[in-house]
Amino acid sequence: MNKEVFRAFDGKTVLVTGGAGAIGSNLVKTLSQLETKKIIILDDLSSSYEWNIPINPKVAFIKVAFWTMKNSNGRSKKNPK
Ligand SMILES: NC(=O)c1ccc[n+]([C@@H]2O[C@H](COP(=O)([O-])OP(=O)(O)OC[C@H]3O[C@@H](n4cnc5c(N)ncnc54)[C@H](O)[C@@H]3O)[C@@H](O)[C@H]2O)c1
Repeated sequence: MNKEVFRAFDGKTVLVTGGAGAIGSNLVKTLSQLETKKIIILDDLSSSYEWNIPINPKVAFIKVAFWTMKNSNGRSKKNPK
């Protein structure tokens, strides 16, 4: 990535889904070395391990499956009916 792309993350909070996985953890590692404010990982660890998450005070990890997340009306995003 060029410097302009890196600078786009300056001071930003970034959400990384699947951030404990192969690609996600490397993305988190790179993001944590930039001037990002915070990196939030959502991952259910279904195919990865918590130890794969880079240790950095800017990185927060929430263990959750995407489909258990609810809309503001309380309905599941996967099963909207
Ligand atoms: N090492 C590398 O840097 C690299 C780079 C490119 C590709 N790869 C290869 O590509 C493959 C795929 O990599 P990947 O990162 O896409 O897959 P992955 O399985 O490593 O990561 C996916 C992540 O998403 C999480 N996840 C899946 N479903 C979820 C759900 N419903 N809710 C919350 N979290 C959920 C999993 O727990 C996991 O941590 C790897 O197995 C690897 O062999 C590796």
